[in-house]
Amino acid sequence: MPMFSEYIIHEVTEKNDIHDVVSKYVHLKKAGNSYVGLCPFHNEKTPSFSVSPQRGVFHCFGCGVGGDVISFLMKIENIPFYEAVKKLADMSGITLPQVTEYDKGNSEKIKKQKEKLFELNREAALFFYENLKDSQKSIEYLKKRQLTGALAKTFWLGFAPDSWNSLFDFLKGKGYTESDIFNAGLIKRHESGRYYDMFRNRLMFPIFDAGGNIIAFGGRVFDDSKPKYLNSPESAIFSKSKNLYGINIAKNSKKDFVLLTEGYMDTIALMKNGFLNTVATLGTALTGVQAKYLANNFKEIVICYDGDKAGHLARLRAISMLREHDVKITVIDLGSSKDPDEFINTNGVERFKVALSNRKQDMEYLMDYYSEEYDLKNPQDIVSYVSEVIEYLKLIRSSVEQNVYVNMLSQRTKVSEKAIYAQLGVTQAKQGTGSDLKVSDPMVIALRKRNKTNKTVLDNAREHLLSLIIFDKIVYNKHKDSITDKIFELDFHISLLNSIRQSYEESGHVVASRLTSHFADNETDLALLSRILSLDDFGDNTEKAYEDYMKIISSEIKKNEIKALMNSGDDLDKLNEMLKNKR
Ligand code: CTP
Ligand code: MN
Repeated sequence: MPMFSEYIIHEVTEKNDIHDVVSKYVHLKKAGNSYVGLCPFHNEKTPSFSVSPQRGVFHCFGCGVGGDVISFLMKIENIPFYEAVKKLADMSGITLPQVTEYDKGNSEKIKKQKEKLFELNREAALFFYENLKDSQKSIEYLKKRQLTGALAKTFWLGFAPDSWNSLFDFLKGKGYTESDIFNAGLIKRHESGRYYDMFRNRLMFPIFDAGGNIIAFGGRVFDDSKPKYLNSPESAIFSKSKNLYGINIAKNSKKDFVLLTEGYMDTIALMKNGFLNTVATLGTALTGVQAKYLANNFKEIVICYDGDKAGHLARLRAISMLREHDVKITVIDLGSSKDPDEFINTNGVERFKVALSNRKQDMEYLMDYYSEEYDLKNPQDIVSYVSEVIEYLKLIRSSVEQNVYVNMLSQRTKVSEKAIYAQLGVTQAKQGTGSDLKVSDPMVIALRKRNKTNKTVLDNAREHLLSLIIFDKIVYNKHKDSITDKIFELDFHISLLNSIRQSYEESGHVVASRLTSHFADNETDLALLSRILSLDDFGDNTEKAYEDYMKIISSEIKKNEIKALMNSGDDLDKLNEMLKNKR
């Protein structure tokens, strides 16, 4: 990243509080010295996402992403490094040096590459569309699904012929290179080195971005074979977790609400009946990026998911994601129908309109749903029911709205509002200790727990030790001679230790943003670093913490050595020696 000097990067990270920047996208609650919230980069119900303003880093203990304020912006906005720095500089009134011709050329090049991909997809869509017209099988299938030729045209539906190379040959004939076609995800490479069409014998659904470019395809089989849908791979222009099917049309529908569905066919069925304000996720659960986009563009999101158990679970996730934003969330009940497409085709659109007008608020939906899972005449069931519903009431950000539903839950169960509030943990927050959450709060406990899983005791202690010496000068200076390469194993830990050392030697302290910019080129390293920088549960006695970590590290290393020796079988003398020392 030679575009900006280290000085500029430092300025930009210092002047932009990571908490302020992240808060624009994620609802954060204070927990000790840091903040926690639901990770915008993966789906979750309990928060694993932590932001530490003191250290200038974010880290998700669930999915492992992390970094500083610049990498956060790059990820959430899906923009390159250069643009993220520029945005942050603008936000904090820093004037950036002129961009060099080289850099300009580079971003120009990326733009050109993207345009090439759009163009290729468009050519492919036209090719599929032309083939559809001649495909008796496709036409019959469309009829069966109650779709007309006019609709096929509107949605650019197409047919990928049952051939290994028809699209490949067509595009080569138009002058495109093998590598361009491959990059667009339209062909695949066989072990033998030969290329072949990715989509064969499928009904094709082009996926558009909000600007009307074709960014990918979904291809459906005509029978029951698997996979039912094949989608274009992730590329510079397509990410299934960021895009939404139908958004190009829904965005221009000028409606206050949007119907959120799970499938291509659901979106088409609703649009065909005049609901142009419909979108579908692309085979994944609703993500933070998609939720944010919808919340920014519509006042209300009507969740229109499949009627089965999987649909219910998907609704729960969507509600959790959407509750991060100030947007009205409602749920539509389609009875036992498989999905909206099936509902409309069997019951007609008028019945759908009735269901739509009977839609429920998310919290009401949840209370109704769980009231069928529990017997509300049975005291023990009431306890479980209330606990279940409370998990969702926690997602409500407005205290007035929360009160409305606490009241509703109280009336339904005859449990007092006071008891419900106590379980919600609201009383503590109301007393205002300066922190929304206590360390005993389940959110914090969940976070701390994740914090420790998937890691060996040894690595966990090493990471804590590194974090401790970054932030505690006194501990570092006192023990620097004992903290050597030998107690680490990972290359990353060793190079981090070296950076820490160097920093203390040069300036007497360590600045977190210097560390993050030092490791910014490598995403894996950055994730490891942000994790380490996010660890701050040393307690007040850091000297004691240091001793504990060192004790764990040396005893675990010894344990591992013994294990290795026992496995190798030789060197019995050495093994006996070590076992003796241990006692
Ligand atoms: N999906 C996918 N890959 C699969 C199956 C499904 O990407 N193998 C995605 C598609 O975007 C699909 C959505 O998940 O539209 C919902 O799947 P499903 O309910 O199975 O399909 P429908 O959209 O209902 O399609 P159809 O009515 O044609 O069965
Ligand atoms: Mn369907």
